[in-house]
Amino acid sequence: MFRIIPRIRPNILVPIRPSIFKFHTTPVRFHGHLHKPKPGEELHITFITKDGKQMTYEVAEGDNILDIAQAHNLDMEGACGGSCACSTCHVIVDPEYYDNIPEPDDDENDMLDLAFGLTETSRLGCQVKMSKELDGIRVALPAMTRNLQSRDFN
Ligand code: FES
Repeated sequence: MFRIIPRIRPNILVPIRPSIFKFHTTPVRFHGHLHKPKPGEELHITFITKDGKQMTYEVAEGDNILDIAQAHNLDMEGACGGSCACSTCHVIVDPEYYDNIPEPDDDENDMLDLAFGLTETSRLGCQVKMSKELDGIRVALPAMTRNLQSRDFN
């Protein structure tokens, strides 16, 4: 079997060999770094997307909001991989739950200052871990995030 690969050489046929690698998929619950909640200890988090949809998930204690969002393919970039070096995991927390979250440290506050659309209840999703006090928390994804590049500092 042959096919044409137009971007490389438009008029050359390249043989296609069957892949020796098998393609595997895993269920969403195994994506990212999420833990499976123990029976009876499930915590709940609701995300409100940019278009107003609400999605509620059962999660385990200790999982952070960034990992939860990414495991469910929500629109949260997390450009720095959760190392508190960007603001692309910015979430707006329901005021009812905001005070139940431990105070942000200086690094998180510095990054939050760069977040687009900062509010009084803004937090970085990668820095907020689920706990019993946060069961039922609701977080909204901001309309935009700001991914600073080195050229932004010129
Ligand atoms: S993912 Fe970069 S600060 Fe949270």
